[in-house]
Amino acid sequence: MFNLLESLVVADHGETAWDAVLETANASGAYTSLGNYPDAELAQLLEAVMALRGEASGGYRWFGRGSIPFLARRYPVFFTPHTTTTQFLLTLNDIIHTEVRKIYPGADVPVFDFELVPGGVALGYHSQRRLCQLGSGLIEGAADHFHERVTIEQPECMLRGDVKCLLVCTFDIAATK
Ligand code: HEM
Repeated sequence: MFNLLESLVVADHGETAWDAVLETANASGAYTSLGNYPDAELAQLLEAVMALRGEASGGYRWFGRGSIPFLARRYPVFFTPHTTTTQFLLTLNDIIHTEVRKIYPGADVPVFDFELVPGGVALGYHSQRRLCQLGSGLIEGAADHFHERVTIEQPECMLRGDVKCLLVCTFDIAATK
């Protein structure tokens, strides 16, 4: 995840920006490809990135949304079989995160439950890491990828004390491609 974040910051803001982010966040920059790092450090880095972008919050969402183009280039096989975001999301447990765990045995990936709703799908998310904002950003990025516009309602959220997060996603065709 840190390598992905580095790619994103460098693509949007240039090489020196990443060094500045590491400095602000007081981080070492020596990351293995994933897992085994404190989520607190990711949160700190994202805070530093948002400060650089002049935004007060929304780091996880920005990171998630911006990650999808990188993931789609690197792992096209997860994306090409599908024409809609809903189809893609329904493969998260059985294909995407399952394969991810084969490639990276240390990966700590979430399990979702799914319920089809009119115009989309509701994702139930349950994870000790409570990264529903990252999940929402990834869903937004996936919708961009499939040229759809997504509305995400979150009637339940672990960050507000609920047992799980419920991400109710409905899709429209995006006005512009
Ligand atoms: C919209 C689609 C996706 C959603 C909503 C999603 C959601 C998430 C979330 C919320 C996490 C954080 C771990 C947790 O909450 O317990 C995570 C971890 C992860 N996801 Fe996904 N994901 C999506 C697509 C993908 C794709 C396409 C890939 C890539 C190939 C991927 C690879 C990973 C990896 C490697 C981790 C583990 C990182 C670590 O160990 O820290 N995900 N995913």
